[in-house]
Amino acid sequence: MNLPAQNQRVLSGMRPTGKLHLGHYHGVLKNWLKLQHEYDCFFFVADWHALTTEYDNTGIIQESVWEMVIDWLAAGVNPGSARLFVQSMVPEHAELHLLLSMSTPLGWLERVPTYKDQQEKLKEKDLATYGFLGYPLLQSADILIYRATQVPVGEDQVVHVELTREVARRFNHLYGREPGFEEKAEAAVKKMGKKGAKLYHNLRKAFQEQGDHEALEKARALLTEQQNITLGDRERLFGYLEGGGKIILPEPQALLTPASKMPGLDGQKMSKSYGNTIALRESPEEVEKKLRTMPTDTKRVRRDDPGNPADCPVWQLHQVYSNEEVKAWVQEGCTTAGIGCIDCKGPIIDAVQAELKPIHERAQEFIQQPQLVRNIIAEGSEEARDVARETLGEVRQAMGLSYS
Ligand code: TRP
Ligand code: SF4
Repeated sequence: MNLPAQNQRVLSGMRPTGKLHLGHYHGVLKNWLKLQHEYDCFFFVADWHALTTEYDNTGIIQESVWEMVIDWLAAGVNPGSARLFVQSMVPEHAELHLLLSMSTPLGWLERVPTYKDQQEKLKEKDLATYGFLGYPLLQSADILIYRATQVPVGEDQVVHVELTREVARRFNHLYGREPGFEEKAEAAVKKMGKKGAKLYHNLRKAFQEQGDHEALEKARALLTEQQNITLGDRERLFGYLEGGGKIILPEPQALLTPASKMPGLDGQKMSKSYGNTIALRESPEEVEKKLRTMPTDTKRVRRDDPGNPADCPVWQLHQVYSNEEVKAWVQEGCTTAGIGCIDCKGPIIDAVQAELKPIHERAQEFIQQPQLVRNIIAEGSEEARDVARETLGEVRQAMGLSYS
């Protein structure tokens, strides 16, 4: 859907797993920083998702939630541009999850590859639970309750967005067929004015009779621009365009997060489970110590043994942090034993410390004002709730569950 950016809603969540590190910064967070200026963004802490694997160790969740929010803010995520909230503070996610669970075939969840993969990976935990099977459906509820159009995720999560699309399609198919749909849609068309109505009819015809996708896009853009129609009518008209019923839960798209090129201290991908991280709030002294002691090309046993940067994890860090000049200096100095490994690490230590300095400064502000952080989350959660309630109202109505 080619809607103008301000009508596109981005939603993403992160499980609270403790302090964030440079791998998160160079992957997810930098992407969020960019998106927050381009879209209507909702970013949340997925504490219920953490519970699916940490149900026997819930003590670490609460602390991790605040640590993570401080890291977001320190990295520059701006509560003035994006709504920041905590999943469990918007209980509407749970109601939608329950309602969606009624029509989601068990097989869809059992077939999601992360289900078996994670059970294999976390063998020490009993993940043969109802909650864990429902993990991706809860994620679908997270996304659909905001009618997000884009969901920034890593490669491993794309299947969850795909599932969300199927869940939405099934929901719309089951409940989008309100009585008198055609009449209501035609009445809504009239509200667009003579010119708008004619254009809509022509574009709809071009799509339905000739499969003209350009016409479909144009008609969608036309609907998005309409100021005078209600949300319900807009959805009806989106559905009417394609011939089906009302689209209550639009299908989101995955927005693949560019893979972080941040290597860890051992040359593998930076990840908490490998114990090779530099935390965002690591002190300059710790940063220096970690980098000074990180392994190098094992051929350089003594200072005058030449080495090969291709066999050295430090070289990978130069790819992230150094310019061509420094890289040429490393190549030459390493292969001729002209420089020592400690010399070689110098520019990396400086670059990482410089990168973290403004992050530390911002973090300090928030650490000193815990109430400010709580207020940011309380406000973000309230704003999120307003949107969530509205969707849920329509979902209940479509399912025949509105009793007022
Ligand atoms: N499952 C995601 C992860 O592990 C976190 C998540 C939960 C999420 N709900 C979401 C991501 C909704 C995007 C949208 O990374
Ligand atoms: Fe690695 Fe640099 Fe030492 Fe060469 S000089 S082995 S690239 S740290």
